[in-house]
Parts: sequence; C-alpha cells; structure tokens
Amino acid sequence: MASGIAPCYVSNVVSPLLASKEAAASSSALSSAISAPPPGLGFAARTRSCFRIGQKYSTARFSVVMSAEAVKEKAGKAPKEVPKESLLTPRFYTTDFEEMEKLFNKDINKNLNEAEFEALLAEFRADYNQTHFVRNAEFKAAAEKLQGPLRQIFVEFLERSCTAEFSGFLLYKELGRRLKKTNPAVAEIFTLMSRDEARHAGFLNKGLSDFNLALDLGFLTKARKYTFFKPQFIFYATYLSEKIGYWRYITIYRHLKANPDYQLYPIFKYFENWCQDENRHGDFFSALLKAQPQFLNDWKAKLWSRFFCLSVYVTMYLNDCQRSAFYEGIGLNTKEFDMHVIIETNRTTGRIFPAVLDVENPIFKEKLDHLVELNEKLAAISKSTVPPTLKNLQRIPVISAMISELLALYFMPPVESGSLDYVDFEPQVVY
Ligand SMILES: [Fe+2]
Ligand SMILES: [Fe+2]
Repeated sequence: MASGIAPCYVSNVVSPLLASKEAAASSSALSSAISAPPPGLGFAARTRSCFRIGQKYSTARFSVVMSAEAVKEKAGKAPKEVPKESLLTPRFYTTDFEEMEKLFNKDINKNLNEAEFEALLAEFRADYNQTHFVRNAEFKAAAEKLQGPLRQIFVEFLERSCTAEFSGFLLYKELGRRLKKTNPAVAEIFTLMSRDEARHAGFLNKGLSDFNLALDLGFLTKARKYTFFKPQFIFYATYLSEKIGYWRYITIYRHLKANPDYQLYPIFKYFENWCQDENRHGDFFSALLKAQPQFLNDWKAKLWSRFFCLSVYVTMYLNDCQRSAFYEGIGLNTKEFDMHVIIETNRTTGRIFPAVLDVENPIFKEKLDHLVELNEKLAAISKSTVPPTLKNLQRIPVISAMISELLALYFMPPVESGSLDYVDFEPQVVY
C-alpha cells in the first residue's frame, strides 16, 4: 500500500476526506523515523527473528537479520532530510475490530463461504514467493551508479514504497490477531498476507541500505498517525490498493523487460513474482466483499465505490506527476503509465464493485491533468517567500478549483458494474 510505487495503495487513499478519528501519536515524531541504519542491523527477505530497530524491540515479528553490509555501512552517514506529511503521504490505517469480528462470525454472517476461504488459505500457505526475495551484488553496485537528482528520487521511491508495504503489514497483522477466534481461516489468511507485506517492506528497506539509509519501522509503528476507516471502507480501499499495486508492478516489469537499458536498479526484476502476491491479496478482498453483500448491493455502496476509486486514482496521479523524474528515469511517460494503470485497475475493479468511474472517457484524463496543474500551483505557493497569511489567501481559489474538479469527476456518469456471479475468486496468476 506508496508513491513512488505502491503495492499496497491503501496508505495513499485521500483519507482525510473520510477520517473520523485517529489513533496514536504526533506527526512531528516522524522526523526521526528516517535515518542511517542502526549499527549492525539490516532487513533481509528471510524471516524468523524479531526485529530490533533503534535499540527497541517491536511487537512485529519479521525479517530482520544481521547484515554484514549494514555493519560495514554503519559509520558516517548523515540522517536523511525528512519528508513532510501531506494528503498524499502514505498512511497507516486502523479499523473497528469489533465490527470486523461480527462481520466474520459464521453464526451471524451466513454468506461466508468456508470452502472458498479454505481454498484461498491453501494458496497462501503454499507461499510461492518464499525464496523469491533474495538479493545479490547487483543492488549495491547499481545504487552507487545512481547519482544526483535521480538518486534522490530513487531513495524517495524506496521510502514511500517501504512505508506503504509496512502499513499493510501492520493492518493485516492486527486483523489476523483479532479474528483468530471468530474465523480462524480468514485470520490465518490475514496473517499470511502480513508475512508477504513484511517481506516486501523488508526488501525495500534493504534497498535503502544500498543508499546508506534505513527506515526506522519500529519507530514509525509507534509514532505515526493512524487513520481510522470503518471495515466497509477498509475493504474498498485495500481491494483497490492491492489491485492498483499489481497493475503498477506488472506494467513496470513488462516495460523494463522490453527496455533493459532503463533497468537502473535490480529491484524491478523482482516485480513479476512480487505483483502476484498483491494480486492474491486483492483476490482475497474480493472474496471478503462477496461475503458482505450489504457493501455491494445498494445505492450507497455505489456511491462509496466511486468515491474510493476516485480517491485512489487521483492520489496516485498527483503523487506520480510530482515525481515524474522517477518514471522518466526508467523510461516511462508518467501520465501514460498512470492512465494505463488506472484503466486496467478500473476494469478489474468493475468485476466486484457495483459502480466504477468512466476513466476511459477523455474528459476524465483532462480533469486529472487540470488537477495536476492546480496541485503545482499549490506547491509553488507553499515554496514562495510571501507571508503565511497571504499564502493562505492565494491558496483559496486554487483549492476551490480543485474541489470543483474533484466533484465534477465524481459526478461524471459512472459505469455500472459488479457481477458477483461472474467473479472468479480462485487465485490466479495474471499476466
Ligand atoms: Fe505488498
Ligand atoms: Fe499486498
């Protein structure tokens, strides 16, 4: 769920529009989350030991082993400049776990298809990517070749992606824990998805060590704001985040396979198998939604479906256009790439959501592009040296225009969709 690239895009949903309460600490604490790796510690794609970050033990059990590289790199690294949180920053999510327990109680909800969840569970237990995330010497060498602005943008990509993956890990881990008694099969799937996200986050964080940096995930766990979404919204947002993550990864993988000259850093070579994890996660949420028809079958469900599609697509488009140097650096046209991802995700989503946006209407892209221009104006105002009061006044017409465009996008005639009878919930390899 990052911009840069977001396997788990839930963290990028424009959540402040929905957030009803927040758990946990101050955002200012984020400022110490990114630093050089603590002595002797580095992430690896293997599991088993508890992880220790910044001399503290986290409750998260995954994937940190001693790394010779981390030991070698420990000296002499300045902390990285800290990005500020904004509407577009990857977020951490929490939900109403008691309501979740009711939704997955087999005595209350007769729509739960146990055979379907057992079949999905077997897929997750098979753990197809158990040995996939193994690094090699190419990583460090490639990172050393990346210099100047491109190096910075790669670092940002790794940070945001790692934060997003880690956000998924935390949410799924907690859901696995809380649903254990109510629905053991669903709980185990959540736990196994958290295993996948931990691997993804660990692999990205190890990538940061190639640039002599590391994200202090233990610190982030405690210090980051958590945005509350009720279960219905968690389902929409995570489904979309997983599917959009799949389409982003597979699109980049295919592009770089066809254009190997742009393969600037070896992490992209792992995307083919990696994206299958995200696809499986999305299929699981599809099955969860099918078991909760009240979230799919009325006019409110249609309105919320469109809202979440819009939030996820707009956030990705604005985020990526702010970082077009990254996409251009790997030989992609940012807007073309994003539109491809949006269209494919929307088609996939239309198989389960009762309504989706008409993203293939040229007006949709025109409005997205106008939002990009407005967002650039906002950024220019923020960077200017005028007094804060004047900045706020300058922002008013720009924000008004953005709201107007968002409403226009939302109220474009939607595409009626969702055909539960046709949805195939068997996990599939999709290429
Ligand atoms: Fe992931
Ligand atoms: Fe995922």
